[in-house]
Amino acid sequence: MKFFIDTANLDEIREAHDLGVLDGVTTNPSLMAKEGITGDANIKAHYQAICKIVDDKVSAEVIATDYQGMIKEGKELAKLDDKIVVKIPMIRDGVKAIRYFHSEGIRTNCTLIFSSGQALLAAKAGATYVSPFIGRLDDISFDGLELISQIVHIYQNYGYTTEVLAASVRHTMHLIKCAELGADVVTCPLKVITGLLKHPLTDSGLAQFLADHAKAAGK
Ligand code: G3P
Repeated sequence: MKFFIDTANLDEIREAHDLGVLDGVTTNPSLMAKEGITGDANIKAHYQAICKIVDDKVSAEVIATDYQGMIKEGKELAKLDDKIVVKIPMIRDGVKAIRYFHSEGIRTNCTLIFSSGQALLAAKAGATYVSPFIGRLDDISFDGLELISQIVHIYQNYGYTTEVLAASVRHTMHLIKCAELGADVVTCPLKVITGLLKHPLTDSGLAQFLADHAKAAGK
């Protein structure tokens, strides 16, 4: 399973990279705005700065919602760096844009996926990744993890190569369940990844080992 970090914060991306388990980064317009990144040139420079830190894929989202606009923006984003994946919303023109980018060999991440039917459409159009939003479904009393299970099952039925990138992952149990269900990638805040480190028996076990060592050494 690949770990992507869902942020546009360079310090957090560096910290995740330093941990040695980071495979990529996803961003969206809200995350860019949170960092105060505005204006076309600044946004592009920020994506390039992210690409310098990470070894693998960086999702950069288009703002346009019409076909021609998405194609123009997507091409510009893809030119910034080989690591860029063009993030496209699950709307009618988005599906057409994904098909176009697929034919041009440009990777895409189809975002705002909330149903297995949408995921099927994105795979048929040739999306590299689909991003089902687990937490936002849970927020409205739908089972986000059940959606992951459905998409993994459908893709296996037909051998689609589109990767299931579980998004809106809010806590460690989301991440672990996604791994059990066979999601290819999770994207989440750094604290969800570092949350996997925690176990009280690890802490007490290590404290005991160190105390026994100190006793034996006569300290
Ligand atoms: O990757 C999508 C993500 O940014 C949405 O997460 O927590 O805002 O639902 P959240």
